[in-house]
Amino acid sequence: MDTRVKVAAEFDLTSWSAKRLEMVEQALSRWVVAEHDGLDHSAPAALVEAMRYAVLDGGKRLRPLLVLAACEAVSAGEPGAADLGASLRAACATELIHAYSLVHDDMPCMDNDVLRRGKPTVHVKFGEASALLAGDALQALAFELLTPDDGSVSPAVQAQLCRLLARAAGSAGMAGGQAIDLASVGQTLSENQLREMHRLKTGALLQGSVMMGAACGRPTAAALDALQTYGAAIGLAFQVVDDILDVTADSVTLGKTAGKDAEQDKPTYVSILGLERSRVYAQELLSQALAALDVSGLSETRALRALADMVVNRAS
Ligand code: IPE
Ligand code: IPE
Ligand code: MG
Ligand code: MG
Ligand code: MG
Repeated sequence: MDTRVKVAAEFDLTSWSAKRLEMVEQALSRWVVAEHDGLDHSAPAALVEAMRYAVLDGGKRLRPLLVLAACEAVSAGEPGAADLGASLRAACATELIHAYSLVHDDMPCMDNDVLRRGKPTVHVKFGEASALLAGDALQALAFELLTPDDGSVSPAVQAQLCRLLARAAGSAGMAGGQAIDLASVGQTLSENQLREMHRLKTGALLQGSVMMGAACGRPTAAALDALQTYGAAIGLAFQVVDDILDVTADSVTLGKTAGKDAEQDKPTYVSILGLERSRVYAQELLSQALAALDVSGLSETRALRALADMVVNRAS
């Protein structure tokens, strides 16, 4: 059965993304370094090497793209230079938090994984203590990026971005969801419990990325409302699809070990709903995300639409 939702608008996501991915890559490479502005000492080279290994040259960069797309959406497609500068910082900050979460997720005390983004995981390459600290330092750097002291981002926007990111990453977001995930090994969760776990461990940071992008521009209340709904739907859909791909894709395609969830007896959408119902649910969530954009009052939503489609219909 073809359950795919039509995204309608003609839009070339690949070319839209190319320029932005390059900007994000360059900014991350510039910011994850040993020498810090305003400090007369450097960070230890080995720690910075592990941080760079964790965050550069890999991954889909979905969270940064969502930040930039949301900022563009609330700016009718043309953010001013200051908003663009803030959104690039926010984009990189979400990726730093995400990369940190992956480093820790892969450690032996969590999912004990050896492959990530097609390379040995950080703890395999650098040792467990270095992986732990690289994750810690990536997290701290995310907040440093959001608080420049050069006047380029207003204090109110800085505070709002920090608040959104802290909420998305903390105990009521990603870290909380990861705690539920670990406590759920071998358990049969209800659909509601599973949804809650996925909302927190993965959905919160994706939704947070959308809201951070919006916070860099001047959204209306209706647009903020719609973007919350959009972010919640694609955030949950993202983990539903991650669960599906763990079963249906191979390790080379994923760049991480396939089949881990069943092997580790994790409750997932596939284990609870089965493959077909999980696929249908992901498409339903895509419809919800698109419907939210329809009533957002925003004039430029093509990138957000195409990213939602990518979240649900991706192969890796
Ligand atoms: C993987 O995230 C971890 C989850 C939150 C499910 P991604 O699939 O976005 O990983 P990268 O960034 O592309 O490597
Ligand atoms: C991880 O979920 C979510 C994070 C917060 C990192 P998974 O454990 O399913 O992610 P993968 O499959 O290892 O990428
Ligand atoms: Mg995990
Ligand atoms: Mg994992
Ligand atoms: Mg997974």
